[in-house]
Amino acid sequence: MTIEFQATAAASGANATERFRENKKAAASSSQERVSQLASRLIKAINDTVLEEKVTYDEYNALKAWLIQVGEDGEWPLFLDVWVEHSVEQVANEYREGTKGSIEGPYYVPDSPQLDSPATLPMRDNEQGTPLLFQGNITNLAGEKLPGASVEIWHADDEGFYSQFAPGLPEWNLRATVIADADGRYEINTMQPAPYQIPTDGSCGKLIAAAGWHAWRPAHLHLKISAPGYHLITSQLYFKGDSHVGDDIASAVKPELILDPTPRADGAGREVSYDFVLDPA
Ligand SMILES: [Fe+2]
Repeated sequence: MTIEFQATAAASGANATERFRENKKAAASSSQERVSQLASRLIKAINDTVLEEKVTYDEYNALKAWLIQVGEDGEWPLFLDVWVEHSVEQVANEYREGTKGSIEGPYYVPDSPQLDSPATLPMRDNEQGTPLLFQGNITNLAGEKLPGASVEIWHADDEGFYSQFAPGLPEWNLRATVIADADGRYEINTMQPAPYQIPTDGSCGKLIAAAGWHAWRPAHLHLKISAPGYHLITSQLYFKGDSHVGDDIASAVKPELILDPTPRADGAGREVSYDFVLDPA
C-alpha cells in the first residue's frame, strides 16, 4: 500500500494554531488604557486606508470574506508571523548589544531532545541534502565563555518541510537542544535546509497570488540561544548567495545573520562557524 503525504496549508496552518494554543501564554496583561490606545490606532489605520484608497463595498466584502477564511484555515499565526512579527522582534530586542534576533515564526516546538555537543541532529537514515557542520562559541558581551549554554535549533529539511507540521516526518526530525561544552563551544551536524515557500494553498497564499507577490523565505536555521543569567535570544541564520536573502517574504533577514559556509576539507558537505554573544539578564 502506498501512502502519499501531501503537505497542505490547511494542515500546517491548523497545526500552527493548535501549537500556539498549547504553548503560548496568550492572556492579555495590558492595562485598559493601553488596550484602548493600541486598538484605536489599529482601527484608525484601517479607516485611513479605506478613506485614502476609496475602498469600495466589493473590496470591503472581499476583505471580510478573506478574514473569515484566514480563521477557518487556522492561518492567523502564519499571517502574523510572516507580516507582523519582524516589527515586534525589532522593538523587543532594540536594547541588545549581543547577537541580533529574528522572528520565531510559527514552527517552533519546545522541549526538543537534549544532546551534548558535539551533536548530530535527529534525522532519517536517508535524510536528503548537503551535510552541514555548524559550530562556534557562545560568550557574554565581555567575551567570556559560557559553558553549558544551550542552542535550541530547528529547521526545514531539504524539501522545505518541518517535522510536526508537515506529515510523514519523524517527530523530532532536525530539531534538538544542544548543550555547549565546558569551553562554551557548540558543534552541530545537520543537513542544510532548503528555501521554502510559505503554504500557498490557504488564505495567505490567496493574498500572495492576488497581490502578485512571491511566497519565498530564504533557507534558514532557527535558533534560541540561552544560558543562566543571560537573556535568551531567538534568531535565524541565513546563507550567503540564497536568491531570497534580499527579499524574504517575512522581512526577517539582517546582514549580521548571514552565514557563508565553505566546503569541508574531507569533502563531506560544508561547514560554517558562528559565534553567539548573549546580553546579561
Ligand atoms: Fe522557518
